Order: sequence, then C-alpha cells, then structure tokens
Amino acid sequence: MDGRTRILIKGGKVVNEDLSFMSDVYIENGKIADIGRNLKVPAGVQIIDATNMLVMPGGIDTHTHMELAFMGTKAVDDFYIGTKAALAGGTTMIMDFVIPQKGTSLLEAYDRWRSTADPKVCCDYSLHVAVTWWGEQVKREMATLAAEQGVNSFKMFMAYKDVFMLCDQELYSAFSHCKEVGAIAQVHAENGDLIAEGAKKMLALGITGPEGHEMCRPEAVEAEATQRAVTIAHAVNCPLYVVHVMSKSAAKVVSNARRDGRVVFGEPIAAGLGTDGTHCWHKDWAHAARFVMGPPLRPDPSTPGYLMDLLANDDLSVTGTDNCTFNVCQKALGKDDFTKIPNGVNGVEDRMSVIWEKGVHSGKMDENRYVAVTSSNAAKIFNFYPQKGRIATGSDADVLVWDPNSTRTISASTHHQAVDYNIFEGMVCHGVPVVTISRGKVVYERGELAVTAGAGRFIPRPPFSEFVYKRVRQREQVCQPTAVVREPYQGKVISL
Ligand code: URP
Ligand code: ZN
Ligand code: ZN
Ligand code: ZN
Repeated sequence: MDGRTRILIKGGKVVNEDLSFMSDVYIENGKIADIGRNLKVPAGVQIIDATNMLVMPGGIDTHTHMELAFMGTKAVDDFYIGTKAALAGGTTMIMDFVIPQKGTSLLEAYDRWRSTADPKVCCDYSLHVAVTWWGEQVKREMATLAAEQGVNSFKMFMAYKDVFMLCDQELYSAFSHCKEVGAIAQVHAENGDLIAEGAKKMLALGITGPEGHEMCRPEAVEAEATQRAVTIAHAVNCPLYVVHVMSKSAAKVVSNARRDGRVVFGEPIAAGLGTDGTHCWHKDWAHAARFVMGPPLRPDPSTPGYLMDLLANDDLSVTGTDNCTFNVCQKALGKDDFTKIPNGVNGVEDRMSVIWEKGVHSGKMDENRYVAVTSSNAAKIFNFYPQKGRIATGSDADVLVWDPNSTRTISASTHHQAVDYNIFEGMVCHGVPVVTISRGKVVYERGELAVTAGAGRFIPRPPFSEFVYKRVRQREQVCQPTAVVREPYQGKVISL
C-alpha cells in the first residue's frame, strides 16, 4: 500500500459538532481508521503535525452552481476549478443543483450533470435537482431520482417568472410528492410576480443600475414567499429547506416557523454572512454589479451579524455559498439594465474562513457549532451522516487541519477560483486551512494543491433522512384530522 494513503494526524484537537478532545487521527484507504493517543500505526505512514491546530470534518458546501448556463451566459467556475478552490479553502464536498429547462426531462438533466461533473470533480459531490415545471413525467422522474439515483432534495423556484417559477398549486403538488418519495423540499423563496412588476417600475423610474436589483425585490418580497412556502409545506406535512436566506425578515420567518414546531431548515450563505448589499450602491458600476445575486444581499448593514446570531442559535441550520460566478465582462450584459446582470457571487473557497471570522472569532459561536453549521448538519439533513460531517472511526477521511491562530487576507489575486474578483476582497480572516484531506489523500498543504480531476465521487443520498423524517412520520401517525362522530341531522333542508 502507498504510504500516502496512510496518514497520521498527530497532536491536534479533534473538533466534532458535540465535543472537542485532544487526539491523533489515523487514516487508511480513504477512511478514518482509528482515533486516540499513542496509536500503533504501520511504518512509513505520512505524518501531519497538528500541534496547536484543530482537526475538523472537511466543509460541506450545500449550495453551488458550477458551470451553470444561466441568464444567457455560463458560470466561470467549472467542476474542476470550483472543487479545487473548495479544497484550498477547507471544503471537501459540494452539493450542486441540476436545473432542467421547463418542459424537459429531470433524468436527462441529471445524467448531463453527472457526465459533466464526474470527470472533473476533485472532491466528493452530490446533486440536488430543481423542479421547474409540473406534470406526470416530473412526478415519475422525481420518484426514480429518489429511489435509484441518490437524490433526496428537490429545489422549487418561487422566482424567475416564466423561466423556473412554479405557482402555488404546483408547489403544493411538488411538496406533496417530495413527501411521498422521502425527499426534502427546497425553495428559492421570492415572489416572482412582485419582482417582475418591481423591475418594470424601477426601469420606468430610470433606475437601471445594480441598486435597482435590490429595490425591485426588497426584504418583504423574500419574507412573503418564505412564509408562503412554510404554509404550503405544513399543509402537506413536508419538510422544508429554505436555500439562501438573505434577509432578516426571511430569517425571522424561518425562526418563527421552527418555534411553531415546523420541520423547516434555513441556509444562509457565506456572502450574506460576510458582506452586505450596500456595495450595489457603489459609484463604480463594475464594483456594484459584482454583488448582484438573488435574493439580493441586503443594504441593511446589520443583516450579516443578525443572520450569524440566528445561525449560532440553531434558528438557521447550515451554510452554503450559492457559488455562481460570472466575470465582470459577463455581468456587463446588464450594464444598461440591471435585470440582465447575471445573478451570482463567489464563496466556495472562502466560506470556511468567513464563517470562522464572523462566527467564531467574533464570539458568536464556538468551534463545535462551527462544525455543525459547516458540515455535520448538512450531512444529517441530506442523509449521509456520519459518513461525512464527523471525525469518527469508519467515516470518510475528509478532514481539515485548521489553524485558528493564523490569519489570511482574501483576495482575487491569490484565490484559486476562475472569477476575476472576490466579493470578500481585503477581508482579514483569522482561521486558516493548513491541510485538507479528501478521500484519505492530502490534496492541499500550506498553499500547495495536489488535486486530480475526477478523483471525487458522487455521493448518493438515500430518501427518508431520519433526521428530517422521523418527526414527519410521527406526526403522520398521531396528528391525522378526525371527524366528529354525531347523529345524522334530522331537521328540514331547504329545497333549491
Ligand atoms: O443569484 C443566484 N442565486 N444565482 C444562482 C441561481 C439561484 O437562484 O440559486
Ligand atoms: Zn436560488
Ligand atoms: Zn464596495
Ligand atoms: Zn443557487
């Protein structure tokens, strides 16, 4: 056996979502083989000195769009560059979205995504599938995807009118079907009709720049759709996952729903936790356009801190990035009309640092909660825990050695992503990825990458995740509506 497939991480502090302890970690053949002090290991193993470092599960980015064809162009981070950058930042798994055009086959789109991603990915990955139209074929294909292809999450758009958007009745059907096949319903929660009207209004007022993008879809537009999704999901007892929660108002809806006992999860993203929408008012058009995404980054500067507080408190559950990157020249498709600026920002490389800086270094959360929101909760919700998201014997050896005492400055001039800017430019982050191990191999060490295209594997996710569905099933059994038993009515009935 190659010594490089046997690794001993020595002298670090292991951090899981529930506890931290000083321990060595021994890796063999892609799995964590043993954890403890003074482990007996074969000669010739690769030793990583983790003194004064944390040894954590590699990050899981719940939300990416590598090389997505969108708004007339294509995202520049492909599955190779995007996963390479992820590994450089300490993320060892991404979850990307298959997005079929309206009226087209979900299964064919899924196959296309697989054949694009499989030969390129440098780390493990999984796929959510978007439901962009409704019909018998979609129903059948959702069932097949869940039962045979390892897809247990489907994203429904409440925005992008005439492109991806579903109406309420379709949402009702899609959520019902998610429950039948044991999947989690995900929503892009914004009111697409209001956005379309708001955009017309802004353009008529002569507001054509990036600031118009937020002004045509203010917080209430996101909060209303979030509440509607919560209501529809509750009506059919389907678990709900709100992707990219971007505003305080929408986060409050998720938080209140959880307090009302709903099975709802909220996903803020690195952009929303690390920066804000004030940049869209910048005098330099190119600078402003870089920050355009949907739902928008909010101009209220207290938003990132608020979202982080909710993430720390378990009102929000996991973090993604919505990494969907377009160069400035692509953003410039909308130089005269903000509705044509391709929506999307970076994050896949910097999420782990941004959340450490704004979450842990700021004192809002501890190292264990950090692990929960950067990996473990995602693995639980999407049903691949403890295969990933935990440092435990038998788990996949996707491991991050983290130096909480060093700092780095985020910059497009040093990042590994393809995009020609970085929305976190100049941010000094405490907490630096020192070594990233993916599938039991060191793929990043102190600035040096050693990745292989196609080395990552697709991770299938079985339906009916216990973490999500146990409560749903229980309710199904005990909370069925029942009729009142009464004598038949004997009185008069008017004739019509
Ligand atoms: O601006 C965004 N979010 N672009 C990607 C598509 C989506 O809605 O997630
Ligand atoms: Zn979305
Ligand atoms: Zn700015
Ligand atoms: Zn997205």
